[in-house]
Amino acid sequence: MTRPYGLLAELTYACPLHCPYCSNPLNLGDYRDELTTEQWQRVLTEARELGVLQLHLSGGEPLQRRDVVEIVRHGSRLGLYTNLITSAVGLSPRRAEQLREAGLDHVQMSIQAHEATASDRIAGTPSFERKVSAARLVKELGWPLTLNVVLHRHNIDHVGDVLRLAEELRADRIELANTQYYGWALLNRGALLPSRAQVDRAEAVVRAARDRLRGQVEITYVLPDYYEQYPKPCMDGWARRQLTVVPNGDALPCPAAQVLPLPRANVREHSVEWIWTRSPLFQRFRGTDWMPEPCRSCPRREIDFGGCRCQAFLLTGDAARTDPVCVLSPDHGIVVDAVRAAGEGDALVPRPNPRRVTSGRERSRTARS
Ligand code: SF4
Ligand code: FES
Repeated sequence: MTRPYGLLAELTYACPLHCPYCSNPLNLGDYRDELTTEQWQRVLTEARELGVLQLHLSGGEPLQRRDVVEIVRHGSRLGLYTNLITSAVGLSPRRAEQLREAGLDHVQMSIQAHEATASDRIAGTPSFERKVSAARLVKELGWPLTLNVVLHRHNIDHVGDVLRLAEELRADRIELANTQYYGWALLNRGALLPSRAQVDRAEAVVRAARDRLRGQVEITYVLPDYYEQYPKPCMDGWARRQLTVVPNGDALPCPAAQVLPLPRANVREHSVEWIWTRSPLFQRFRGTDWMPEPCRSCPRREIDFGGCRCQAFLLTGDAARTDPVCVLSPDHGIVVDAVRAAGEGDALVPRPNPRRVTSGRERSRTARS
């Protein structure tokens, strides 16, 4: 069994933004009972003992936690490389200084679009100008800056403008990541999935920018997996290299696994070591023994690990099936239909639902009424 390399700590699902592509669960209100500072510190200590080297602090918006500086300080003292994944709303000069002093190593900031009107519309709140100021602050304080832009139907045509903004802000790296369809993003898939023509145009723009910005801005471009032939090796394999802990203390092999009908594993009840090595949840899809055909006899089974368990569940109702993104999957028609609908033109595209906080009970009440 390998040791985990990275810990994604989703400190809180509270967030000032309402992005319709959020991968957080739909029942956000069920996660209000958050771990305390001491509990997070214990999780970090145990994760480090297990071999974790990188700590990614995320959410929601991790800056909504008053104790984020203390948590960073603890991680830094343990020798973890600390990365703050943030909307930057709440990154005041004072907070930034405190985080710098606590040992924060890296800032990854989301940008919704290249200019204020589009960006604020997607974020559901005025935030673009604050993001630009925060990006400048990050560079002034000497942090490496990664910009993260989730691409979808409403901003992918401006990928060139986004790259120019990254250049202007002196970002070290930009991650252009097409939306992954979990949580709110799956709910809004009809409104967000770009057409194949859009994807092809964006790819050409990114290729040209790579040559122009070589040695200046490192560009990562994540294709929408619906347009790929084979699925992504999600999380580099189930419970193989990464571990996620969500606000209520549930530990998961990936950030979307709350939806799976599998036994829970919570850090309030078990050590991180027990969860990683012995919990039924982490063992369920580890390795290749669980695989059905066509994965079982496929030469790519150690390359993509049968794709994404959460996507298989969300699209077919069975987490143990081959990811429908794969052209060899018997369920591939589900993805083909979604792609066909995305190519049928803007007139048929619904309005996306903004992310908002409701519990599972509130959601089913809304669904009934
Ligand atoms: Fe990957 Fe399974 Fe498809 Fe083979 S059949 S490419 S292992 S998802
Ligand atoms: Fe859960 Fe891919 S997101 S396994």
